[in-house]
Amino acid sequence: MKFLIVGNGQLGSEFERLLKKRSNDEFVLHDKKTLDITNRENVEKVIGAYQPDWILDAAAYTAVDKAEDEGKEVNWLVNETGTQNLVEVAKKNNSKLVYVSTDYVFDGTNKNEISENDSVNPQNEYGKAKLAGEQIVSKSGIDFYTIRTSWVFGEFGNNFVFTMQKLAQTHPELNVVNDQTGRPTWAKNLAEFIFYLIDNHSAFGTYHFSNDGVATWFDFASEILKNEDVKINPVDSSAFAQKAYRPKYSVMSLAKAKGTGFIIPNWQNALQQFLNEIKQNND
Ligand SMILES: NC(=O)c1ccc[n+]([C@@H]2O[C@H](COP(=O)([O-])OP(=O)(O)OC[C@H]3O[C@@H](n4cnc5c(N)ncnc54)[C@H](OP(=O)(O)O)[C@@H]3O)[C@@H](O)[C@H]2O)c1
Repeated sequence: MKFLIVGNGQLGSEFERLLKKRSNDEFVLHDKKTLDITNRENVEKVIGAYQPDWILDAAAYTAVDKAEDEGKEVNWLVNETGTQNLVEVAKKNNSKLVYVSTDYVFDGTNKNEISENDSVNPQNEYGKAKLAGEQIVSKSGIDFYTIRTSWVFGEFGNNFVFTMQKLAQTHPELNVVNDQTGRPTWAKNLAEFIFYLIDNHSAFGTYHFSNDGVATWFDFASEILKNEDVKINPVDSSAFAQKAYRPKYSVMSLAKAKGTGFIIPNWQNALQQFLNEIKQNND
């Protein structure tokens, strides 16, 4: 099969790493310089020339707070118009599409795990634009997987794990939010799940995916820094002024993902394996 990866951030780079090991497949990765999804002509030209079986869309505007004001326009341009461009060109070229979305399409007021069919109600600009992207994909008539995920960490890019590690080097104490609950996701496991769906011809449509188990940001930070000499204090969100709304309870159900047969590691194991891998790479 031929895969075209769009975006070389955390997930796009994991797609690349995985595809390098799959000798029967062909792939190409495009970053923003070679494929700007907001530029329709560019999208037509690159996808038309490569004719991929699958477009793996890992391109997004992910600056959630900036999306509220100075990044508002670009947020919509990338996450809505960019998705529209990819979808229309995918349709024209008969390519299937993987679109990745977010738990922020929900308002986080749920008391129970959120399933794929639960009502969406995004409360920040990023969530609204990502939902607009989802709707463009689902109404298009193309074959697609939309994967909603949350709290992504991985080797390639900025994320909460690296932020905590850096802060711990210069701060003896850290205050971390303990009133938002969700599920961390190792980008590597996310990429593996997506290839599992493709390889097993799982039913097209929307899936939730993250690592198993639940955590607050405080729990997550405590696990990341469990071997470091730093004190971590649980605090309320009100201690940190953030421009964008953050859901209090963002635990998306993994039942549908598990129903495919994919074994989902819990977040503590995924995190430990990730920390071991980056340590090995740095030694
Ligand atoms: N990170 C999370 O915690 C999280 C949570 C839920 C859902 N998601 C979703 O998961 C997916 C993967 O996220 P990620 O963590 O891998 O994000 P990421 O590391 O921020 O990567 C996004 C990539 O998209 C690229 N991009 C931005 N504008 C583009 C454009 N106009 N054309 C082409 N590429 C463009 C970025 O390039 P530049 O860096 O050069 O701008 C970046 O390489 C996204 O759809 C995101 O919405 C992420």
